[in-house]
Amino acid sequence: MTPQSGILPPANGHALFTLFRRRLGRRADARLKALLASVSDRIQLLQAEDSRASVVLAFGPHVWPELYQSKPELLRDFPSISGAIHPAPASDVDVLLHLRGERYDLLHEFADQLSAEMAEWLDVIETVHGFRYRDMRDLTGFVDGTENPEGDERAEVALVSDGDWAGGSYIHLQRYVHRMEQWKKLPVRQQEAVMGRTKETNEELPDEDRPHTAHISRVIIEENGEELAMLRHSMPYGAPGGEKGLYFISYCKTPSVFEKMLTRMVAPTSDGRVDHLLNFTRAVTGAAFFAPSIEQLKQLQS
Ligand code: HEM
Repeated sequence: MTPQSGILPPANGHALFTLFRRRLGRRADARLKALLASVSDRIQLLQAEDSRASVVLAFGPHVWPELYQSKPELLRDFPSISGAIHPAPASDVDVLLHLRGERYDLLHEFADQLSAEMAEWLDVIETVHGFRYRDMRDLTGFVDGTENPEGDERAEVALVSDGDWAGGSYIHLQRYVHRMEQWKKLPVRQQEAVMGRTKETNEELPDEDRPHTAHISRVIIEENGEELAMLRHSMPYGAPGGEKGLYFISYCKTPSVFEKMLTRMVAPTSDGRVDHLLNFTRAVTGAAFFAPSIEQLKQLQS
């Protein structure tokens, strides 16, 4: 089974995240399914102009039964985390279009055209342009994505390996809005303690210097001698002088990795600690999806 083109490749200069919700009273019919099924071929036309353009189309648990007879067994709602002291809201959305590439104009054109064609069934809830900031830094100034898996490990981590849904991937996204004013006031040494890495040189702080409340201390989780892993394609977004932050998105062979990491970030239930990064940023959206393989996507047409 072939994964959709936007899952495994390395980071790009631009991304476009579009979230859709089903229109009230409109069920997915053959015409909508044919449109959805066409997306992986349509991206190939774009690749003539931007060879690194790629796409992922993914569906949430509520729209899934309208599209397929069976469901990926672990596809479920965005988690509601008990004991959370930081917000992790779930958004009412059904479909994700995640475009990546080097030419923002082409991504814009693609998403705009497709949204117009699907407007009869799906409303656009949010569309956000993610951009590379300097040497792949988040707007906090820290390099993001360093510990992403590489080589063959990317597929091992991100893709379901067998069964009906092989080649597919569980996706979680959250849009974070940064409190840049407060962050900028924090001395660099303290920023490093919040993140768990050095800012300029991007090195992990040694265990003995790294607080349990540091971001990476919360998300490094060892189980049976192995670290839990996910593939992240998060990107900075936002307007100069206005709202800005990180568009977080992860791909994984199971939803439980994100759920466990987020729990350790927002709820003091495991060791009484939460992620101090969340004093400087807050999640304003959240959603869970499954991206079927290209073969399963094309099956929608039949
Ligand atoms: C690592 C930023 C949210 C999971 C990192 C790093 C940065 C960062 C700068 C270190 C470099 C790297 O390895 O990528 C942020 C920001 C976030 C955010 C600014 C939100 C505003 C999340 C969330 C999760 C997550 C919601 C998962 C639930 C991870 C993981 C690592 C990581 C797994 C790698 C840890 C390691 O193995 O060292 N993040 N992150 N992050 N983050 Fe986040």
